[in-house]
Parts: sequence; structure tokens; C-alpha cells
Amino acid sequence: MKALVLSGGKGTRLRPITYTSAKQLVPVANKPVLFRVIDAICEAGIDDIGIVIGDTGNEIRKAVGDGRRWNARVTYIPQDQPLGLAHAVKISRDFLEDERFVMFLGDNCIQGGITPLVRQFTQGAANAQIVLKQVLDPRQFGVAELSEQGQVVRLVEKPREPQSDLALVGIYLFDAHIWAAVESIRPSFRGELEITDAIQWLIDHGYRVDPYLHDGWWIDTGKKDDMLEANRLVLEELEPAILGYVDRDSQVTGRVVIERGAEVINSTLRGPAIIGENTRIINSYVGPFTSIYHNCLVEDSEIEHSIILEHSRVRDLPHRLEESLVGRNVEIGRSALKPRAYRLMLGDNSSVGVL
Ligand code: TTP
Repeated sequence: MKALVLSGGKGTRLRPITYTSAKQLVPVANKPVLFRVIDAICEAGIDDIGIVIGDTGNEIRKAVGDGRRWNARVTYIPQDQPLGLAHAVKISRDFLEDERFVMFLGDNCIQGGITPLVRQFTQGAANAQIVLKQVLDPRQFGVAELSEQGQVVRLVEKPREPQSDLALVGIYLFDAHIWAAVESIRPSFRGELEITDAIQWLIDHGYRVDPYLHDGWWIDTGKKDDMLEANRLVLEELEPAILGYVDRDSQVTGRVVIERGAEVINSTLRGPAIIGENTRIINSYVGPFTSIYHNCLVEDSEIEHSIILEHSRVRDLPHRLEESLVGRNVEIGRSALKPRAYRLMLGDNSSVGVL
């Protein structure tokens, strides 16, 4: 079996972070979401992986490389424009050939991996299998309706009056009948080839589409609050480890990972939290659900429930930083300059809340 990971797209909902970098590489608990996807695929015993890439392709290639780190073989499949999930499948035919495959959205995160699902599909007789998750408000998702026998009969994108509370998680399994489906469907009103239309085509032509109900957590990391939520859930499963230096004046409690080369000086760390390689935390408080990535500095400040990306510096904050997603190479600090004022340089579509 092969795997297809979708890592193109625009990432408009995570701007401005995604103006300069791929959203699939934003780390959750200090590991890029895409790496978590590849981990899950490899754990299921699949080592032949195609990755669909778009404008941020070079960055993805640089981060993932040839897959050697996972003992896997990675093939890159460039997509000129993000013309839809079914379009991404369509252009991957040469790589996938007529084998059964699992398709995984590169910005999704699920608890517990995909091993049972892959086993079920390999041993079963379904032509496709889709992962579903019960959600409170199905109106913002693709939703699946099941027959009394438990088979998928209808898929509806963002229904106004949902007939089911089962949302489509970004993981799908297909056999070779998907090729006829993606060749037959037409672009939707938003101009994309929709994977839901391709799956509906399979159902309408008598092919068997089975559901797979996922009962752990699932997060689509498209927006800031989703990222923070994913970060919270993953941090709660962290194995504590102190590989860096903590001085005697510091206190570390709860699930905390301090990565290699990190330093914690005269500070309080309350887990779950992770401090990245070569990051320094000085005279500060880092509270629950916080991930600070590599090569950062936090000095005389308090941070909680936030994600800070690499090479950023947070200094002398008069108030606690909370529920924030801070990009790379960002400086946040107090200035002695008069008059006392906020002095900002923010990218397009940034959002800042001040006291
Ligand atoms: P989406 O989140 O549906 O789309 P997007 O990445 O364009 O994001 P936004 O809505 O914020 O603008 O995409 C899901 C995943 O599939 C994501 O990892 C990007 C990838 N993708 C492709 O590889 N090719 C495509 O044509 C599309 C639409 C998405």
C-alpha cells in the first residue's frame, strides 16, 4: 500500500504565518504537523509516500527530504495550483498506479494513528473507506450520512441542516476505482475538484464506501485556535524529559519537556509545556499548554497557552501573553522610548489584542 499526503494549498486561514511558510510545517508540541502525519503513516507499515506540494514546495522538500529519517521513500508531486483535493489525487496517478492507497491531509492531526484503519481496509472488501468523527456542530464540515446497514450513502459539504453529526476527517482510503471517479467529476461552484464529489460518484455507481468511526481527538490545524487546541491535546500526552539545563532557582512541575541545549534560569515552568532546543527561559513563567520552539528567548515575561515559533524573542512584558501564536523571528518587548506608545511592525492579516 502507498500513501498520498496533501501538502499544497494556500493556508489562507493561518495568515500571516502562511505568507512566508507552509502551514503543514507549523509545529504542534514542537513537531511539525506534517511530521506527525508521516509518523502515523510509517507506524502503519507504509513506507512509499507521495507528497503533493504547491507554492511552499521547496520548504516542504527541505524539511522532509527523501524520507530517510523515517526509513521511507518520499516522492514529490508538484501541483501547479490548489485546484482541490480530488485534483491532487488526479495528478498523482503515475505515482499511485492501481494500488490501494491512503490519502492524508498534511495539516490534520489525529490521536492514536491509522494502523487499525489501514488493517481494516486491507483485509476488507470496501472500495473506499472514510474516517468520520462525531462533532457538535456539523455545519462547518463535510458530513457523511449512513444507511441502516452502516454504509456511507451521502456526503454533503457544510450542510445548513445536517442530517448527521459525522464529519469527514482528512483521511481516506481508496482502491483503483477512484480513477474513474476523479476523471468523471466536474469542478464545484468554488472551482475545485471536490473529494466529496468523487466519493459520492463511487457510491452512486454502486461501489462500497465504508465509514471508520474515530473516537479519539481529531484536529484540523487550519486556524489559530485549532492550532492552540491541537497543541493542548498533544502536550497532554507528552512524556516528560529534561535534556537541557535547569538551574537551582527554577521550578519545573507537571509534564514538561526541555529539549537539548535549552536553558531555564530562575524561572517557573508549569506543564504540560515544551521548551525547544537552545531556547533560553530567564526570570520568567511558562504556564500550561505552551510550546516554545527552537532558538527562542523568553526573559522577564509570562507566557501561557501559546505557541512560539523559532528564533523569536519575548522580553519584559508587563502582562502575561496568552492564547497567542507567534511566528518566526518575532521580537516582542517593552521599549524605553518616549513617548510611551505601541510601536508595531505587523504583517498583513495580523491580529493583536492590547490592554
Ligand atoms: P484546505 O485546508 O482545505 O485548504 P488550504 O490549504 O488552501 O487552506 P485555507 O482554507 O486556509 O486556504 O486543504 C487541506 C490540505 O490539503 C492542506 O494540507 C493543503 C492540501 N491541499 C492540496 O495539497 N491541494 C489542493 O488543491 C488543496 C485545496 C489542498
